[in-house]
Amino acid sequence: MRKHIVAGNWKMNLTFQEADELLDELMSELEKVELPRDEQVIVCPPFPYIEMASDYANDSYFMVGAQNVSDKEEGAYTGEVSAKMLESCEIDYCIVGHSERRAYYHETDALVAAKVNQLLAHNLKPIVCVGEVLKEREANKQFDVVKTQVEQGLFHLNAEQIQQVIIAYEPVWAIGTGKTATAEQAQEMHAHIRRLLTDKYGKEVADEISILYGGSCKPSNAKELFANPDVDGGLIGGASLKAKDFMGIITAF
Ligand code: PGA
Repeated sequence: MRKHIVAGNWKMNLTFQEADELLDELMSELEKVELPRDEQVIVCPPFPYIEMASDYANDSYFMVGAQNVSDKEEGAYTGEVSAKMLESCEIDYCIVGHSERRAYYHETDALVAAKVNQLLAHNLKPIVCVGEVLKEREANKQFDVVKTQVEQGLFHLNAEQIQQVIIAYEPVWAIGTGKTATAEQAQEMHAHIRRLLTDKYGKEVADEISILYGGSCKPSNAKELFANPDVDGGLIGGASLKAKDFMGIITAF
């Protein structure tokens, strides 16, 4: 059965020293609890801290992910980081298509698809973000918007490949705004995504894919969100920068 996942997306925050402190605190908190076997914690720090996070993670308490990857294999692409490099650093996950990258760096579904291909070719699991902006929800277009993102970003994959993917539904109006989708809104969209996956790949495959919720998820609302049958965990921004808050979400299952 699919995994429960809580992934922390640090975004462009924290100095090296602050990152060190947060990882240290997180480790001592994680040592105190016994998580269910089907739950996976992932920490996605900025690139310069990935090695430090891996040293802390020690392959047992949490896994480490990157926040972005190049769509190119290798070569003269100044500033880019390839999936091949991440693989060689033994990184297992990578966020792709976050709404901030779509909005500020003009990432399209085609680019998302190319990045997903790179990651899968190098044995990393993509955490692919989808979600509508406020205007689209107000126009009741959220289901169509997410359908297009899922289809164009992922539906070129075969059944074996798609099972390596984690999907994160992040309504853009809920990210960093303190405005969370209600448990009903989250479940409704997650069920929609699962239906799309079922229609394309069949129920057995669709049931294996973890669909995370993201957008102002915190200890106080995580339980209610995660209680939904199609919400398999969360992609956490702000609350992942405080060990206690992140732990509150990790232990919400
Ligand atoms: P937030 O961010 O938890 O700060 O709303 C979530 C995300 O962008 O992944």
